[in-house]
Order: sequence, then structure tokens, then C-alpha cells
Amino acid sequence: MNSFSLLDIDDLSNEQIQGFFTRAKQIKTQGFSVSSQFGGKICTQLFFEPSTRTRLSFEMACKRMGISTINFDSAGSSLMKGETLLDTFLNVQAMKPDLMVLRFGEDKDLSAAIKSSPIPVISGGEGKYSHPSQALLDAFTILEERGQLNGEKVLIVGDVGHSRVAASNIKLLTRFGAKVAIAGPDYLTELPKDLETKVTRFSDLREGMKWANVVMALRVQLERMASGTKTQFSPERYAREFGIHQGQLSWLNKDAILLHPGPVNQGVELDWPAMQHSQSRILQQVENGVYIRSAMIERCLS
Ligand code: CP
Repeated sequence: MNSFSLLDIDDLSNEQIQGFFTRAKQIKTQGFSVSSQFGGKICTQLFFEPSTRTRLSFEMACKRMGISTINFDSAGSSLMKGETLLDTFLNVQAMKPDLMVLRFGEDKDLSAAIKSSPIPVISGGEGKYSHPSQALLDAFTILEERGQLNGEKVLIVGDVGHSRVAASNIKLLTRFGAKVAIAGPDYLTELPKDLETKVTRFSDLREGMKWANVVMALRVQLERMASGTKTQFSPERYAREFGIHQGQLSWLNKDAILLHPGPVNQGVELDWPAMQHSQSRILQQVENGVYIRSAMIERCLS
């Protein structure tokens, strides 16, 4: 792998992660620096799955730093003529951008090509496996709000089994001493063994929320559910048992924060009063995403 690529939390040392937090805080407090080092650099963004926050915040970070961006539009591309994702990636790579940001699903050949890319690649999310920039911005937001990660009690609620956000957060937060628990319907919370051993479980949302300092709700990902799982899913039942709506907000500890990576299925995981609640930090996560991604881009191009 190109030593400047950023594809998974496992690729980063604790010192590198800490370095991203320090740099993101500097950018947040002192502003972006447009360095001559980045003048004339070009970042291509290939998002083979939909995105609002991740794509736009990488683009925002690049532009704030004086880096030009080129956005790949699947709908108007030769993918429509049958070109494969791998071939698309290799063709854009052949144009020699300075950096590539990619979001992609399950594709072993593409994954292998990304790992051997001579041009640095930052992951904007890989299938249900990893979303390193989201985990970094979530941890940065927790640090900012709670002052530490060590000893923090983080409850991840909902569709944990399909969630790259949960996978990357479990890896990162437990490495820094946080206690991570999950709550959700059994059919949505199956985890691979390496993650399962790092978490505890609550079958009751109320108990979990009473325990936690940080409550992270997740989007229910219908598009990743196998047909058997989909037939078990009822939005009404989910909302009743694991939704955090006006009625459940009183279960939040007074000093706890509420997070969600977005996009929210309103009325299912969260309702509007929960999103707007004084303890919600959802838009702060989005703002912090630009600083964290800026720090990641700097490292890749430095
Ligand atoms: N959190 C997140 O990845 O959001 P988008 O899918 O909008 O990028």
C-alpha cells in the first residue's frame, strides 16, 4: 500500500491518530492554511455509493487548502456503458491526480488495486467494513465535548452489523480506552469475532442509555440487508424498541451527548426533536469532519 494512503483505522498508529486530532483542533481554532505546498495539486473524488457529508466535506477541505477537486459523476460516466469500477479507478489513476478519495462497496479486485495504488488514496467508506474519516471525526467530537476517550462509555445503537461507521468506531475508540456497548435488534447486530470481543451488549435501550456518556445512533441500511433480514425489519417496531425519539430523550444522562453519522431516517432512528435536542452534536460532527479530513489530506500530500 502507498504509505500515504488512508484506508482503515488499523493502518494508523495511535500517534498518527492523535496527530490528526491535534491538527484538526489547530485548524478549527486558527483557520485553514493555504500552503504553496498544495498549490496546483488535484484531488479526484470517486464515490461509487451515494454521499452528501463525506464527499462534500473532503471537497470543502481541499478547496479551503487551495487544492483543486474533480468530482466523478457515476450517472454521466462510462459505468453506464458497462465499464467496471476497477477499470474506472485505473483510468482515473492513469491521469495522475495527486490524491484520490474513494467510496466503494464490495469489490475484491478494486480493493486490491486501491491497496497497490502508487497514488495516495483516502477511503470515503468501504462497504460495511470501514469509514476511517467518520470514526476520526466522531472521536474528535467526543474528545472536544467530553475531554477524553479513555473510560468513556459509548453506546452504539441500531444497525451495527451493516455499519462501517460502527466497525471503525469500535476499533478506534477501544484502542484509546473507551468502553463500547451496542444495542439493537439481534438480526441487525451480528458482528465479526474481532469486533464482538471488543464490545458489550444491552438488550434494553433504556438501560444502555442510562449507562452511556455518548449515545451514537446509526442509520438503518435497508440497501445492505439480505432479503431474509429485510422481511424481519419493521420501521414501526424498530422505532418503538430502538428509536431515540422525544420520549426516550429523558433517558440521556445530563452530561451525555447524542451523535449520528447521518443521513438520518427521520422517525426511525431519531425524530426531529432528538436531532434538535440540546445534547445532540450531530451538526458539530459534520463541521468537525471538514477539519479532520483537512488533516488527513495534509498528511497524504506532505
Ligand atoms: N456519514 C456519512 O458517511 O454520510 P454520507 O453518506 O452523506 O457521506
